[in-house]
Amino acid sequence: MVSLKVISILSAFFTAFPLAASAPAEGRTHNGKTTAARPNLSPYPLTTGKKFPTSPRRTKTCFIDALGSGRDDGPQILAAAHKCNNGGTLAFLDDLYTIGTPLDLTFLKHVDFDIQGTIRFTDDIDFWIRNQFEYYYQNISSFWQIGGTDVNLFGSGKGVIDGNGQKWYDAFDTNKLNTTFRRPLLLVFDGIKGGQMSGITMRNSPNWNTLIANSSDMIFHDMHVEAKSTSNIQAKNTDGWDTYANKPMKTLDRSDNIIIQNSVINNGDDCVSLRGNSTNILIQSLACNGSHGISVGSLGQYYQNQDIVENVYVFNITMTNASDGARIKAWPGVFGEAMPGWVGGGGTGYVNNVTYDTMLLNNVDYAIEITQCYGQKNLTACNERPSTLEIKNVYFHGFYGVASKKYDPQVGSMICSSPEVCHDIHAYNINVLAPSGKAPYYTCFNMDESLLGVKCQPWKG
Ligand SMILES: *[C@@H]1O[C@H](CO)[C@@H](O)[C@H](O)[C@H]1NC(C)=O
Ligand SMILES: *[C@@H]1O[C@H](CO)[C@@H](O)[C@H](O)[C@H]1NC(C)=O
Ligand SMILES: *[C@@H]1O[C@H](CO)[C@@H](O)[C@H](O)[C@H]1NC(C)=O
Ligand SMILES: *[C@@H]1O[C@H](CO)[C@@H](O)[C@H](O)[C@H]1NC(C)=O
Ligand SMILES: *[C@@H]1O[C@H](CO)[C@@H](O)[C@H](O)[C@H]1NC(C)=O
Ligand SMILES: *[C@@H]1O[C@H](CO)[C@@H](O)[C@H](O)[C@H]1NC(C)=O
Ligand SMILES: *[C@@H]1O[C@H](CO)[C@@H](O)[C@H](O)[C@H]1NC(C)=O
Ligand SMILES: *[C@@H]1O[C@H](CO)[C@@H](O)[C@H](O)[C@H]1NC(C)=O
Ligand SMILES: *[C@@H]1O[C@H](CO)[C@@H](O)[C@H](O)[C@H]1NC(C)=O
Repeated sequence: MVSLKVISILSAFFTAFPLAASAPAEGRTHNGKTTAARPNLSPYPLTTGKKFPTSPRRTKTCFIDALGSGRDDGPQILAAAHKCNNGGTLAFLDDLYTIGTPLDLTFLKHVDFDIQGTIRFTDDIDFWIRNQFEYYYQNISSFWQIGGTDVNLFGSGKGVIDGNGQKWYDAFDTNKLNTTFRRPLLLVFDGIKGGQMSGITMRNSPNWNTLIANSSDMIFHDMHVEAKSTSNIQAKNTDGWDTYANKPMKTLDRSDNIIIQNSVINNGDDCVSLRGNSTNILIQSLACNGSHGISVGSLGQYYQNQDIVENVYVFNITMTNASDGARIKAWPGVFGEAMPGWVGGGGTGYVNNVTYDTMLLNNVDYAIEITQCYGQKNLTACNERPSTLEIKNVYFHGFYGVASKKYDPQVGSMICSSPEVCHDIHAYNINVLAPSGKAPYYTCFNMDESLLGVKCQPWKG
């Protein structure tokens, strides 16, 4: 009996400290700097109820010495990623790294990024326009892409990924209608199976900050997103996070089991945006400022393509200076072009089982916005051909605070294109005030108002 007990204690010890005998990745000194311990992240306070794979301790370290003077560190980062693949840590301990060429890191297995300095992308627009990674979806592109199994990035509160976006912001102002002027996303995760990112500031992305594509089992924690223009031209499309998947059916076809939590976002577009094929997503304890809210969509942009967003929980969000708090946007059933590059409609699929629970609003135009006429300026046409993307089983509750003056005393808008494709939408415990003190109302169209604990007024188009 005694020996059995000892064995169980020992096995508990080895489970808690796997590979304790081999060289730990943390606490290694190089050029007077020391590697950090990978933080042990867990979902808090809520979980998706799904398991996250364990990430074994790393057993080798590749120190990357910045070349300095703006020289391109991309090639040596790629070499280090090959060398430290299968169980190593890439240590970025210097103050400033520069990346000036596209970096494809989609082959990683059990790799950590210990980022203690700044990784900055060059702002040679002419070069990047010709050399970035390009993706089909919405003509997006990126400087680098990271994919593989069990990949962690941690910045210990010091790490920065800097998109150096000012030139892009200024140039976009005269290229808004130019579909060949693609601005890179700051970070694309493409095909991650198990990954974490924490303690990193994402600064001045030229476009969306972090795309989670074709990926599963990821946790983002203690992140900081800052996108701000210093000229009089605004930083546009600086979404905090976007999720989607477009693998063919039968392979991994969802971005699934993703948690984004405990983070601060100062940006100028969606704080988080869940796009087609995002399932089991939990977003909790975010402070968003200046954004377009926590969005589902836009969905149904691509004709007869099926977008699914299912099992989403959004909890404990502080939303300040924003156009929206909670937002669900689907393209209409009819294909149209609102402006060049802004084309779509007629996609299929559904939004199912989405909950927004507890949101504190301050200076937000619409507490809740639902539209099935996204991207279509001709609302008559939209309502003649209802959306082929269904919205159902949506819950909004625990909304409080004060809206903005923009539509005062209107504080929300829920426009469905037909009750058949938009139903079981519930709102309760909603107490969002209008700044004027007048009775707040929501514009409602094709909604089952018996499920809405808010005051509706008809939509006049
Ligand atoms: C993408 O760019 C092409 C031209 O390169 C354009 O025809 C298309 O409308 C753009 N937009 C989308 C959403 O694909
Ligand atoms: C559109 O952007 C591309 C890439 O920057 C550029 O070469 C082209 O001149 C631009 N077109 C116009 C009409 O400005
Ligand atoms: C979602 O997956 C379907 C089928 O695999 C695909 O047609 C659709 O384009 C995907 N959506 C996105 C946003 O990629
Ligand atoms: C996601 O997977 C699809 C299908 O394999 C691929 O076409 C696409 O480039 C991948 N990544 C992104 C970012 O869309
Ligand atoms: C809600 O989020 C804030 C940070 O924005 C955090 O301080 C607070 O502890 C969270 N509340 C709960 C119940 O998790
Ligand atoms: C929120 O955004 C506004 C407008 O960009 C800015 O003035 C303010 O400083 C931001 N607040 C915080 C806490 O960063
Ligand atoms: C709805 O989504 C939540 C997560 O937000 C999940 O816990 C629940 O099981 C889902 N309900 C159904 C019926 O799948
Ligand atoms: C909202 O924006 C105003 C100025 O635009 C800024 O003074 C204020 O700090 C912002 N609120 C928060 C909470 O960041
Ligand atoms: C809007 O759509 C309706 C119905 O399809 C059509 O009759 C009308 O001409 C359209 N209006 C404009 C301005 O395109």
